[in-house]
Amino acid sequence: MDGIQELKARYLAEIAAAGDETTIEAVRVAAVGKKGEVSLKMRELGKMTPEERKTAGPMLNALKDEINSAIAARKAALADAALEERLRSEWLDVTQPARPVVQGSVHPISQVTEEIIAIFADLGYAVAEGPQIENDFYNFDALNIPPEHPARQEFDTFYMHRAEGDNRPPNVLRTHTSPVQIRHMEKHGVPCRIIAPGRVYRSDYDQTHTPMFHQVEGLAIDKDISMANLKWTLEEFCRAFFEVDNVELKFRASHFPFTEPSAEVDIRCSWDNGQLKIGEGDDWMEILGSGMVHPKVLEAAGVDPKEYQGFAFGMGIDRLAMLKYGIPDLRAFFDSDLRWLRHYGFAALDVPTIHGGISR
Ligand code: DAH
Repeated sequence: MDGIQELKARYLAEIAAAGDETTIEAVRVAAVGKKGEVSLKMRELGKMTPEERKTAGPMLNALKDEINSAIAARKAALADAALEERLRSEWLDVTQPARPVVQGSVHPISQVTEEIIAIFADLGYAVAEGPQIENDFYNFDALNIPPEHPARQEFDTFYMHRAEGDNRPPNVLRTHTSPVQIRHMEKHGVPCRIIAPGRVYRSDYDQTHTPMFHQVEGLAIDKDISMANLKWTLEEFCRAFFEVDNVELKFRASHFPFTEPSAEVDIRCSWDNGQLKIGEGDDWMEILGSGMVHPKVLEAAGVDPKEYQGFAFGMGIDRLAMLKYGIPDLRAFFDSDLRWLRHYGFAALDVPTIHGGISR
């Protein structure tokens, strides 16, 4: 039968050239679909003589089969190629090192604050807080610093603005954490044992002063608390904080309006090649102010000074951090320089415990 060889050659070539499913389907429809060329030729069988049909019939059937199987083979080959391509492009190198995870670090101030809280928690102290914008009463008056008192000038206070015609004394950015003593006793009464860490503000700026810095206040009030208890508590704290067994503290008579008697506390230390060692040597470094709470302060907080007494202390957290971790310049603490933070920062899991230091 004429043209069968030609049909076969043409369709097999088209199938071989088809690059995707749609093209193959188009070839299939054109060849063996209902109105496809091969199908039409099969319909012509009826018009043939029996002789002709005998040879043409099987040839056409064979052609149809051949085309169908060529299509099936081509489809399978295309699917294989697609899979190969996916396997080639969608691979994962499990040996490749993981991308570094950029992690923040805990600021030395936060770390040291947590350390201080942990140590005092172990001594039975709770944490108290107060506002950073304070009024005149809590920041000064209640702490026995009346308006004309020279200590007011010594503080380099930041005063807040008052509306025109409002003659009340201006609010201040608290200059120390001592107002928390008053707020705590007013609200919760006595006896009490608290520390109050937080931000304080003074208009001062050099290598060891920044306008915002951190203090921690301590307050212990009961019926029979004495200076001896203060001494023991501070020694115990320094031992745990600086992680040395032999701390030696010197209580130097001083003056604060809110304590009587008052003492500034120095710690024995040495400077070895610029490296500070606590607990040995011939130098003394001042680390805090303290004393027995002034009766007027207790009164201002609604506590009867004939019945209750106790001690208070205040220390600079930033300074303690500089001493413990050998950080030379206070200003760098608040520059937010990532290189500094990475160098001096702590890992998030570096959880402070009082057992974390020296073994005792
Ligand atoms: N408030 C003082 C300051 O900022 C520190 C201080 C000294 C706090 C003696 C006290 C204390 O509680 O008893 O310099």
